[in-house]
Amino acid sequence: MYLLPGSLLLLIFSFSAMISCLQLSKCNNTEVTLIRNTEHLTQLALSNCTLPHLANAFFVRFEHLLHLELQHSGLSDLDDFALNGLTKLQYLSLSHNNLSSLRSWSSDPLGALTNLDLGHNVLCKLRSNSFGIYPQLQQLDLRYNQISQIEEDSFDGLSHLKHLYLNGNQLAHIDGSFFGGLHRLSSLSLQHNRIEGIEMDSFESNTHLRSLRVDQNLLSSLQFLSQRGLARLVHLNLSNNVVQQLEPSVFSKNFELQDLDLSYNNITKLNKESLSGLDSLERFNISHNYVDEIYVESLDSLVALLQVDISFNRLTTLPDTLFHVNTQLEEIVLANNRIGEISSQMMLNQNHLRYIKLSGNALSDAAFLQRLSPSVNRLSLYVDLSSNRIKSVNLSSLLHFRYVNLADNNWSCDWLVANLVRKLPTSVNFARPWTVINNWSENTTKIRGIDCIEGGSNRSIILLDVSGVPQQKPDHCDCGVAYDETNPSPPPLTWPKIPTDRFDSRSVIIWMLVAIAMAFAGLRWLRRFVDRNEKRKLGQKMLQNVYVSKVQWQPISPL
Ligand SMILES: *[C@@H]1O[C@H](CO)[C@@H](O)[C@H](O)[C@H]1NC(C)=O
Ligand SMILES: *[C@@H]1O[C@H](CO)[C@@H](O)[C@H](O)[C@H]1NC(C)=O
Ligand SMILES: *[C@@H]1O[C@H](CO)[C@@H](O)[C@H](O)[C@H]1NC(C)=O
Ligand SMILES: *[C@@H]1O[C@H](CO)[C@@H](O)[C@H](O)[C@H]1NC(C)=O
Ligand SMILES: *[C@@H]1O[C@H](CO)[C@@H](O)[C@H](O)[C@H]1NC(C)=O
Ligand SMILES: *[C@@H]1O[C@H](CO)[C@@H](O)[C@H](O)[C@H]1NC(C)=O
Ligand SMILES: *[C@@H]1O[C@H](CO)[C@@H](O)[C@H](O)[C@H]1NC(C)=O
Ligand SMILES: *[C@@H]1O[C@H](CO)[C@@H](O)[C@H](O)[C@H]1NC(C)=O
Ligand SMILES: *[C@@H]1O[C@H](CO)[C@@H](O)[C@H](O)[C@H]1NC(C)=O
Ligand SMILES: *[C@@H]1O[C@H](CO)[C@@H](O)[C@H](O)[C@H]1NC(C)=O
Ligand SMILES: *[C@@H]1O[C@H](CO)[C@@H](O)[C@H](O)[C@H]1NC(C)=O
Repeated sequence: MYLLPGSLLLLIFSFSAMISCLQLSKCNNTEVTLIRNTEHLTQLALSNCTLPHLANAFFVRFEHLLHLELQHSGLSDLDDFALNGLTKLQYLSLSHNNLSSLRSWSSDPLGALTNLDLGHNVLCKLRSNSFGIYPQLQQLDLRYNQISQIEEDSFDGLSHLKHLYLNGNQLAHIDGSFFGGLHRLSSLSLQHNRIEGIEMDSFESNTHLRSLRVDQNLLSSLQFLSQRGLARLVHLNLSNNVVQQLEPSVFSKNFELQDLDLSYNNITKLNKESLSGLDSLERFNISHNYVDEIYVESLDSLVALLQVDISFNRLTTLPDTLFHVNTQLEEIVLANNRIGEISSQMMLNQNHLRYIKLSGNALSDAAFLQRLSPSVNRLSLYVDLSSNRIKSVNLSSLLHFRYVNLADNNWSCDWLVANLVRKLPTSVNFARPWTVINNWSENTTKIRGIDCIEGGSNRSIILLDVSGVPQQKPDHCDCGVAYDETNPSPPPLTWPKIPTDRFDSRSVIIWMLVAIAMAFAGLRWLRRFVDRNEKRKLGQKMLQNVYVSKVQWQPISPL
């Protein structure tokens, strides 16, 4: 492929008789007419040129072209026969131009054309029989135009069309007549329009439709789904609409559906009948709605379900038996609700579960992990309990999971001090990143630490890993690590015992598990990111309670 700007071309054209692909940018009309030896040219790509107008028979010398692109070139006007002669053309793109109307542009049908891209133009209206001269078209791209009107029979004659892109237009209503005759249509993109209503017979003749995108529209009712034409749908995206309720049995005809995305709607409830009929559904996403109630049997028909996402809703409780029929589940996402309790019964029949995501809820304990049903394979289970309200956990019950994330909970400082001095396997995480200001450089540094609560809302931060912090000068210490990183069982307590009488809400304890080599001077910057609430109170007192390293721990004297 050759990519050449402007006038250099002329030279090359005179000599290169065998060029089959040519890509030009920043060209103009004159330069295109000077292209010679076109008999071997099968691909021509013109981009960022200045070609507002194409005269009749402009491409008639390029009769061997299979692939023609003319993009980003301000094209707004083609004479009626500008595309004459392109009888072998299979792919034509006129995208990213300024076309406002669609005509045939050729006296004979472009009988070989299978792929036509007119996206990113300014088309407003499709007239009947607009595409009659492209009888073999399989893919038609009209995305990001300003189409608000589609006349009856606009797509007439496109009996081979498989993929139609109408996303990013101004359609407000889908009429029964729009897609008539598209018998082979397999995917239809209507997202990002303003569609409020879809007529019941809109897809009557599109019985091969497998994928339908109507996300980012204004749909409030889903009754259209029960029409015959949508019976073979596999992928359905209804995200970003304003659906408030799922009428009973609204999906009863979509028994081949595998993917259903209902995220970002206004749904408040899942009833017993809401999802009935979805026998093949594998991925169900109803995140970012207002669901506060899930009826106990509402997922019972989803026997093939692999993944369910109910995050960002308003759930406070879940029925214990909610997932009992969904025995194939691999991923349950319940993050960012207001769930206060999880029953261990909920996972009773799960053999395949790999992810359970519960972050951002109101859980106050993780006891359900201890009593998980034996069918659950803990070693392959990832559990996210971050950003809940857990005060303490039974550490030994967490050891045999693939991963347990416990960051950002309401840890009691007393409990942490008494228990977390043990090194946990890397599959259990308590820490979250903190950004600190480092006096040695302008940059902020990310470190990992745990915060805990003592006496109401006052927080203290415990640093776990300061290895990422750039150091001023290397220190000399015996940095031997006492624990075997690969040993999952908690090693014996070898940490210095921290005098609890000195641990109060104004203390900051610093444990350095990894970068033990820190000079006293290196601790100066730590003063800057200590708890905001306590900042005022920090001073001599804090510094008396700073502990460094497990090997060489000692109180830091005031700086
Ligand atoms: C086309 O571009 C060439 C140089 O790139 C210039 O000499 C010529 O005048 C241009 N023709 C038109 C019609 O603008
Ligand atoms: C053409 O212009 C568009 C935007 O104006 C730019 O994104 C694209 O990279 C350019 N392409 C070439 C081949 O210069
Ligand atoms: C697009 O075409 C219209 C006329 O159809 C013209 O007024 C406008 O300037 C053109 N815009 C660009 C970016 O070429
Ligand atoms: C549905 O569409 C939204 C955009 O509206 C997109 O973010 C999401 O990934 C799509 N869902 C699926 C399952 O492809
Ligand atoms: C959907 O919910 C949002 C947020 O509560 C609200 O602003 C919007 O008006 C609701 N739309 C409808 C149609 O109920
Ligand atoms: C569900 O949809 C939301 C919003 O589009 C997306 O962020 C999330 O990743 C989806 N969930 C899954 C499991 O794909
Ligand atoms: C902690 O969990 C272990 C293993 O699950 C269990 O044997 C032990 O009884 C639990 N301890 C408490 C106090 O619940
Ligand atoms: C700050 O960060 C930038 C990019 O991460 C790095 O190039 C620069 O050397 C850093 N400056 C100091 C003083 O560490
Ligand atoms: C928490 O800190 C505030 C001031 O930041 C103080 O007034 C309050 O007494 C402290 N609470 C406890 C329990 O120490
Ligand atoms: C966190 O725990 C403290 C007691 O340790 C309690 O007063 C506070 O309300 C808890 N916060 C939340 C958000 O549950
Ligand atoms: C950190 O730098 C600021 C100015 O950038 C200075 O005021 C402060 O005293 C320094 N802190 C320490 C502990 O050196």
